[in-house]
Amino acid sequence: MLRVFVRAALRPRLMEPCRLLGPVTQIPERSIVHQDGLPKLPIPPLKQTFERYLAALEPLICDDEEMEHTREHVEEFLKGGVGERLQKSLERRARKTDNWLSEWWMQSAFLDCRMPVPVYTSPGVVLPRMHFQDRQGQMRFAAKLIAGVLEFKELIDTGTLPIEYLSGKPLCMDQYNQILSSCRIPGPKRDTVVNHAMGTTTPTHITVVHNFQFFVLDVYNSDGTPLTVDQLHMQLEKIWNSSLQTNKEPIGILTSQHRNTWGKAYNNLIKDKTNKESVRSIQKSIFTVCLDAPMPRVSDELYQSRVAAQMLHGGGARWNSGNRWFDKTIQFIVGEDGTCGLVYEHAPAEGPPIVYLIDYVVNYIQRTEMVRSPMVPLPMPLKLRFNITPEVKRDIESAKQNMNIMVHDLDVKVLMFSHYGKNVPKQHKLSPDAYVQMALQLAYFRMYNVCCSTYESASLRMFLYGRTDAIRATTVDSFNFVQAMEDPAKQNTEKVALLQKAVQKHKDLTYEAIHGQAIDRHLLGLRMLSIEELTSMPTIFMDCAYAVAQHFNLNTSQVGAKTDCVMCFGPMVPDGYGVCYNPMEEHINIAITAFNSCEETHAAKFSRAVEDALLDMRALLEDTAKTQQ
Ligand code: COA
Repeated sequence: MLRVFVRAALRPRLMEPCRLLGPVTQIPERSIVHQDGLPKLPIPPLKQTFERYLAALEPLICDDEEMEHTREHVEEFLKGGVGERLQKSLERRARKTDNWLSEWWMQSAFLDCRMPVPVYTSPGVVLPRMHFQDRQGQMRFAAKLIAGVLEFKELIDTGTLPIEYLSGKPLCMDQYNQILSSCRIPGPKRDTVVNHAMGTTTPTHITVVHNFQFFVLDVYNSDGTPLTVDQLHMQLEKIWNSSLQTNKEPIGILTSQHRNTWGKAYNNLIKDKTNKESVRSIQKSIFTVCLDAPMPRVSDELYQSRVAAQMLHGGGARWNSGNRWFDKTIQFIVGEDGTCGLVYEHAPAEGPPIVYLIDYVVNYIQRTEMVRSPMVPLPMPLKLRFNITPEVKRDIESAKQNMNIMVHDLDVKVLMFSHYGKNVPKQHKLSPDAYVQMALQLAYFRMYNVCCSTYESASLRMFLYGRTDAIRATTVDSFNFVQAMEDPAKQNTEKVALLQKAVQKHKDLTYEAIHGQAIDRHLLGLRMLSIEELTSMPTIFMDCAYAVAQHFNLNTSQVGAKTDCVMCFGPMVPDGYGVCYNPMEEHINIAITAFNSCEETHAAKFSRAVEDALLDMRALLEDTAKTQQ
């Protein structure tokens, strides 16, 4: 049975002031049935969360006295009445809203975050290198890509996007509604996201940026049909030819600033009417295509890492960092040198819907030939004008400097692990995701001789408007396994047994997380309520153990795709790593980031440690299996 999802079916949500949703006129029955049929995100029992919290702390807190203090704080919280009262408030909120968490999550994880969006919150995606090396290839590829995204948009709009499933359960499809025609807007203290997809007049244009110059490209004919690949190609040629000057002010680089700084610069910029209209056109567009200038050539070994950096920040003020509008939800990047991928602003959606869109578009590009269509004269795409006042110029200069600092600080390594993929753990009856996580644990332990707080994103899309919770991948079992691996006195059979146990524990945590029973979002909810209700902050959130638990040195996520691509994102803490992986059947793509300003972290070294860990784990499993035959 093919179940479908219709864009217009999404009802405006309760309590989502950050989204300026337009009126929804018609709600097709089928989709209401799907969305309304989804369960609401539960609130886990209080006692359960704190038992699991203490268990999660065990491998992280070595000091018995500190652990004892935390136990006392937890007991006081549970028995002293504060916990019960907050839990009841949370339950009331859950009854009154479609999803008790989504607004808080959007605010605390994204819109309140004042760090720049590139590197700190916006993930990039690296697509395989394309076989073009010139402007013609770039135009052809970009034209097909745009046509592919429009075909995907059609699936959303017409209700033919198949509903996705996880562990046999249908998933909330709302995020697909949020990724096109939306944009983040900076605010002085908190940002907002505007979504033009559900207004009365939906956008019909995309923005294209080349040599830092932005254009409005109408992608539909007057009869509502999308432009053909051939037509798009012609329009892109026109854009290219009218943006040959390379000395333009990189206005888009303003969007890469610290959010408070950008918030001020934004108000400054849009004081001018022309600037305001140009900014609105970018914000309203369906998506952005960045036609990037070629980057300096690097060896094949470094190529993927170089592209990951280009996707995350554009390479610096001299290169393509000004060829972006980082607030735009989706920006596809097509370089003249065959580089391609995207960067996306994280607030409206998680990685999996973005990658699903990529899979679709890559497939579209592979099956589409350019057919010459009859020459219908099309209007020249509109070049967006910006008046650069001395104040704006000053803001651009400061953004350029900060961007260059950010570029120098980001350390990226993409590991294309080619020795094996999901096939090996599957042959040994182990969950591939848990297995990769154990390799990360082993790599970290080998480098630092300790384990650290580890975050892995888990989908909450089984629930209405669900986003993510965290799997805390460092457990007593994972710690026992990595210690055993480094202990020459341990037998292989024992190491395998410990690996199996650690993997099973990870699977259990994954099951709990995707079913709404993990601990992190529940703790967030209790903390947010303490703030909202102006009660004093419970001591459980103020002790050292809580700070350690929240300091995720390993910020990880699996974002699986059919395409041979990899998503990448920055570390969550200054002395941590960002690790995103796409386990394919016979190989694994892993993107690792760190900050150069931290002397202790090193993306390439960590990558080598991960590679060694994966190889050693296979050797362990195979050697042990052989001896048992
Ligand atoms: N033996 C053999 N095969 C097994 C197995 C076992 N013991 N356990 C799992 N497998 C198989 C599965 O059947 C599956 O098969 P498939 O490749 O044919 O689909 C495959 O191995 C993968 O399963 P697993 O590795 O266990 O993980 P998963 O695909 O269920 O993913 C999460 C786990 C946590 C990544 C996923 O649940 C999730 O939440 N993803 C969303 C992440 C997210 O939102 N990230 C956001 C980033 S911005």
